[in-house]
Formats: sequence, structure tokens, C-alpha cells
Amino acid sequence: MKLILLGAPGAGKGTVAKLLTAIDGSVQISTGDILRGAVQAGTELGKEAEEYMKRGDLVPDSLIMGIMEKRLQEPDCEKGFLLDGFPRTIPQAEELKKLLERLGITLDKAVNIDVPREVILDRLCTRRTCENPECQAIYNVKSNPPKQEGICDKCGARVVQREDETEEAISHRLATYNEKTAPLIGFYEKEGLLLNVEAVSSDAVIEAIRKELGL
Ligand code: AP5
Repeated sequence: MKLILLGAPGAGKGTVAKLLTAIDGSVQISTGDILRGAVQAGTELGKEAEEYMKRGDLVPDSLIMGIMEKRLQEPDCEKGFLLDGFPRTIPQAEELKKLLERLGITLDKAVNIDVPREVILDRLCTRRTCENPECQAIYNVKSNPPKQEGICDKCGARVVQREDETEEAISHRLATYNEKTAPLIGFYEKEGLLLNVEAVSSDAVIEAIRKELGL
């Protein structure tokens, strides 16, 4: 499947993407994970992105488009891909449309995961993430804790709170989402690609996607 996953920070895009990969081998492409990996590795990209991310601001469109143009042409994308956290602005969506046309790729849907704000705030304060850039498994101290506290079930690395998970950065990320990313819902509706799913449970989101795509 070839999907865009839309939704506010904490809506569950990463969690749903990881579950969807098991259905047909489509790959999860998370720009957030790619950027956090680059920050941790101290690459040029990471150095450029770090300050924006800490504040909860978006990194410049030009940086993201460069990453995605390369990533979408890697062979593992042939089976399908789940875009998690991209596009994030109208210019990114417009550039993506041109890029996909150039590459001859047709999207199945842009899925908007619509979760109430109270649920989102609660989830972001209780989320924990594996610090291994190759893994970045997602946990939640309330709904999905690792078996051994602070240790990733999958790779054994430390499970930590993300740097952009301070109260200040979270509220800034939510405001940035409302201003810059929420308009993408209307963009994809006009394109005839929008699937809006109002659901708090990830299983319900997966079910709605399966039904829509006949999987
Ligand atoms: P990014 O990593 O994309 O962060 P985000 O969009 O803010 O999304 P999150 O990862 O916070 O949330 P999610 O929806 O994936 O939720 P999750 O599944 O983890 O981006 C980080 C930063 O990178 C940005 O601020 C920006 O600076 C930069 N960036 C990235 N992409 C960019 C772009 N394209 N352009 C410019 N800048 C970009 O779930 C959250 C929690 O809830 C977890 O604890 C999870 O266990 C729990 N949970 C999830 N679903 C459920 C459920 N159904 N029931 C109970 N708990 C649940």
C-alpha cells in the first residue's frame, strides 16, 4: 500500500505505521525518525535540524524534500510505503505531488487519524521511545510499557523520553500542527485522496484502512 498518514503529534501515526508494515511488507518512512537518527549520529543534516526540533518547529522544507526524494527511490519502497510525518506543509505536499508524478507512483490514500486533544496531550506526556536510531520502537508508560522498565523489548537499548517532549515543546508542536499541517486535510480532500478516521484505538484505524483498500 502507498499511504500518507496525517494527524497531530501523538495521534498514533508511528504506532499505526508499524502495525501496517506487517500486513504487506510496505515500509514505514518517518521523517521524524530519520531526523532524530541524524541528530544522534551528529551528521550535517542532524546539526541543521536539531535546534528546530528541540523547539517543536518544523525543519525547512528544502531539507525534507532532499531526504524524501532519495528515500522514495530506494528499492524497498517498491512494495509500498507509509509516509509518517511527511508531508507536513502545503509546499511539501505540492512538491510531493510533482515528485510522485515524475516517479510514476500513485498514492492509495491520505489517512487522517483524528484523535481528541485531551487524549493526545496525555499520550505525549507518557510516551517513551527507544533511543537506538535503527529501532526507535514506541512505548507508553500507561498503555504499552516495555517489559523491563527503561529497556527496549526489541533491541535492548535504553527507552527514553524524547527531547521535544517538554510541556513547552509539546504545546508549540500542537500549535505548529494547527497552523501548518492541518490544512493538508483540505488539500487531500480536494485531491480525492482523503480517508478520515475518527478513532482512539489503533486497531480501529487499521481496520478502517483495510476496509477502504480491500485488504
Ligand atoms: P515526528 O517524529 O513526526 O513527530 P510528530 O508528528 O509530532 O508525531 P509523533 O511522533 O509525536 O506522534 P505519532 O502520531 O507518531 O504518535 P505515536 O504513534 O508515537 O516529528 C518530530 C519533529 O521532526 C517535528 O517537530 C519537526 O521538527 C521535525 N519534522 C519531522 N517531519 C518533518 C517534516 N515533514 N517537515 C518539517 N519538519 C519535520 O503515539 C504517541 C503515543 O501514544 C505513544 O506513547 C503510543 O504508544 C501511544 N499510543 C498511540 N496509539 C495509541 C492507542 N491507540 N492507544 C493508546 N496509546 C496509544
